Amino acid sequence: MSGTNNARSFQFAHLLAAGAFGALGAFFTCYLSKRAQPVRPPIRVLITGAAGQIGYALSSLVGHGELLGKSQRVILHLLDVETATEPLNGLKLELIDSALPLLTDVIATTNPTEACTGVSIAIMVGGFPRKAHMERKDIMAMNGSIYSKHAYALEKYACKGCKVVVVANPANTNAVILSQCAPSIPRKNITCLTRLDHNRALGQVAAKLNIPVNVVKNVTIWGNHSSTQYPDVNHGCANGITIRNAIRDDNWLDNEFVSIVQQRGAAIIKARNLSSALSAASSVCDHIRDWVLGTPPGHWVSMGVISDGSYGVPEGLCYSFPVTCKDGDWNIVQGLDIDARSRQKMDDTARELEEERRLAQDYLQSL
Ligand SMILES: NC(=O)c1ccc[n+]([C@@H]2O[C@H](COP(=O)([O-])OP(=O)(O)OC[C@H]3O[C@@H](n4cnc5c(N)ncnc54)[C@H](O)[C@@H]3O)[C@@H](O)[C@H]2O)c1
Ligand SMILES: *[C@@H]1O[C@H](CO)[C@@H](O)[C@H](O)[C@H]1NC(C)=O
Ligand SMILES: *[C@@H]1O[C@H](CO)[C@@H](O)[C@H](O)[C@H]1NC(C)=O
Ligand SMILES: *[C@@H]1O[C@H](CO)[C@@H](O)[C@H](O)[C@H]1NC(C)=O
Ligand SMILES: *[C@@H]1O[C@H](CO)[C@@H](O)[C@H](O)[C@H]1NC(C)=O
Ligand SMILES: *[C@@H]1O[C@H](CO)[C@@H](O)[C@H](O)[C@H]1NC(C)=O
Repeated sequence: MSGTNNARSFQFAHLLAAGAFGALGAFFTCYLSKRAQPVRPPIRVLITGAAGQIGYALSSLVGHGELLGKSQRVILHLLDVETATEPLNGLKLELIDSALPLLTDVIATTNPTEACTGVSIAIMVGGFPRKAHMERKDIMAMNGSIYSKHAYALEKYACKGCKVVVVANPANTNAVILSQCAPSIPRKNITCLTRLDHNRALGQVAAKLNIPVNVVKNVTIWGNHSSTQYPDVNHGCANGITIRNAIRDDNWLDNEFVSIVQQRGAAIIKARNLSSALSAASSVCDHIRDWVLGTPPGHWVSMGVISDGSYGVPEGLCYSFPVTCKDGDWNIVQGLDIDARSRQKMDDTARELEEERRLAQDYLQSL
């Protein structure tokens, strides 16, 4: 009680001393900002390849506040190619019909300049599907040409400090291409999605132990977003004890678990005759939300980031690491013990990425 009285008399004295109206104004501004959330300007979010199946699920999640929180309004910039104009416009109509209070506006366009202008978050889902007769070199050139063009538009028209996540495969190498073609965007601002793999690993551990997924912590996906990725539980815990002690089946963890997570994408395709879309969209929201708002205390997450040489991963590769995020920045978790088995698997997936980077380098030099 006396605290409240002191505060009141302080406010009163303050009013007298500082002149009634100015101080009253300041008091109300301060009072109101503590009560109601100040109305923040909307943030522009780009989704490329928006007419595709990930874009369909993702744009709705973004409109529901899953990307930047329930008090942040957004303007969606949806980009796709000319041949996808009709479904792209259809998506816009459906978003309007969803009557989402956080969704201030929707811009559906096939013009990369318009799509990139003023965006603070760029989610790169656009990609060219692989056809049976294509050689890897040709596909790299097609993917490369998309990512070099988009890099140029982002560099020129996006907000300074824009955060980029590449989803389209080969996600790690597309991120490297984007970064090299947009040298003025800080390397730390360009990432690729491995959160889906991370979430798959959490899901498998939780299912095995029959516990809620949020009490499973600190699993890691190392490397490429492909079947050579290494899902690592050695530093993880479940319900406060190590995952290895909780599961007590090293054979399952070292073999079946690893291959379930590595092959999960293929299992989804087999079941749906379509690749994962809902879970991919959901993990994009997790990736960006944790990056912008911070990882929950006591947890790390996996993100594909451009290597600074940590854990002996060649510098400049876009490689999935364990990271924590705070104040809009991410940092690789340092100092984890890596045993010989893990080392081997981490090196195998790094070699795959180096090979792919050489292919990308050849393409970039041919420009
Ligand atoms: N990293 C991951 O975890 C992860 C998970 C799932 C899927 N993916 C990848 O995400 C990508 C998209 O998947 P999807 O299922 O939505 O595919 P999709 O084929 O349904 O959609 C891709 C969209 O990209 C568009 N596109 C092609 N070139 C473009 C360009 N130059 N500019 C703008 N848009 C362009 C296409 O028109 C299409 O609408 C694929 O490459 C897929 O392999 C990655
Ligand atoms: C190019 O992109 C497509 C689809 O986005 C992907 O399936 C293919 O594997 C990519 N190319 C290479 C060289 O991996
Ligand atoms: C991205 O870029 C801006 C400056 O251009 C910076 O403020 C921001 O922290 C950067 N880093 C990350 C990791 O997002
Ligand atoms: C790395 O992973 C991507 C995504 O799954 C895949 O397209 C690519 O072929 C992989 N790289 C190599 C060299 O196998
Ligand atoms: C699976 O998808 C392919 C390519 O989109 C299609 O040609 C085929 O008919 C589909 N198969 C089934 C069983 O639906
Ligand atoms: C999980 O990671 C976070 C972030 O690095 C750390 O603070 C926490 O101690 C870790 N938990 C365990 C059980 O190792």
